[in-house]
Amino acid sequence: MSKILLVTSSPRHDSLSTAIARETAAGLAASGGTITTRDVGLAPPAHIDDAFSTAIRKAPEDRSEAEASSVRLSDELVAELLSADTLVIGTGLINFGVYSGLKAWIDNIARAGLTFKYGESGPVGLVGAKKAYVVLASGGVYSSGAASALDHATTYLKTVLGFIGIADVEVIRVEGVAYGPDAAEQALSSARGRIAELAAA
Ligand SMILES: Cc1cc2nc3c(=O)[nH]c(=O)nc-3n(C[C@H](O)[C@H](O)[C@H](O)COP(=O)(O)O)c2cc1C
Repeated sequence: MSKILLVTSSPRHDSLSTAIARETAAGLAASGGTITTRDVGLAPPAHIDDAFSTAIRKAPEDRSEAEASSVRLSDELVAELLSADTLVIGTGLINFGVYSGLKAWIDNIARAGLTFKYGESGPVGLVGAKKAYVVLASGGVYSSGAASALDHATTYLKTVLGFIGIADVEVIRVEGVAYGPDAAEQALSSARGRIAELAAA
């Protein structure tokens, strides 16, 4: 039975990435699986601060109370990620990057000694074999053409997920939603087509 971690990051109540990411997780779980949901759009983790950046370099027993408290949620988020075998992330393309709540989640789960380490020949991801799906909603079209170099969300997420050991990343696009209701409907339908294939696999 697969254990799916669903991370949604849009703060919008009518978010397209959240809707399609939820459907993706449900499709993957259809043949047996559990879904743990982490909403970092409506409840974003804290930004990195001084206490956090000090704490992550110390053994737990050497941390002050403020430092220990600054990594408590991060420890929980890391445990949640490590215990999943499939990761589904939903985000909009926001100013060519990801929603800031998702960036904060990444800053909380990329932890030296827990999700990556430096080996003799460079960084080594520690999260174990997992598959990741990124549901990316965007106003414009980035899957092909001149704008594709401007989709920094995909390159960033693939880089950071690869860094912690998740090399198998599929991007499900809900793109061109700013080009009117027909284009948005077409984008949703195309994403749902892929979800149906995943659910049937
Ligand atoms: C503040 C803001 C910035 C955005 N920046 C971009 C962008 O750089 N490129 C783009 O194609 N769409 C951009 N959009 C459109 C969103 O990607 C689109 O509305 C998407 O559906 C948002 O995801 P959500 O529906 O999950 O909230 C932006 C939207 C907002 C509100």
